[in-house]
Amino acid sequence: MIAGTEATRHEGTKGAEEWQPEILAFCCNYCAYAAADLAGSKRMQYAPNVRIIHTPCTGKVEMEHLLAAFEKGVDGILIAGCLEGGCHFQEGNLRARKRTDRIRQMLDEIGVGGQRLLMANLSAAMAPTFVERVQEIVAVVRALGPNPLKVRS
Ligand code: FES
Repeated sequence: MIAGTEATRHEGTKGAEEWQPEILAFCCNYCAYAAADLAGSKRMQYAPNVRIIHTPCTGKVEMEHLLAAFEKGVDGILIAGCLEGGCHFQEGNLRARKRTDRIRQMLDEIGVGGQRLLMANLSAAMAPTFVERVQEIVAVVRALGPNPLKVRS
């Protein structure tokens, strides 16, 4: 069972009028995705508005993927990969960290807010940490408000 499916228990509804940011979580197959799965299996609760994207390694998440997501109006992104030194592709998570730092800087420069992008390193057993990082990005993005790049219809 993976977090983000209907089998996962999410926070109860807190009122339909409350704005729910759209959050993506790129989760590495070996650690973060397993941690998200474990969180789902343990029925740990976290915000319902997080979409899990299963990726082989955070090093495969390119800058253009992240920028395109923000351009399309995603409000926040979590990149969750293996612990430093634990990447199955050796340095994928280190490359992802550098990309994250660069994009955060770019988002600050264009007034979108670099805090909308968060990177976390965790092991497959760290389901509570996964949930904490999800709650962190959701809280930060809620405080920032909607992505200013979001096209209003
Ligand atoms: Fe997990 Fe590279 S395999 S971050």
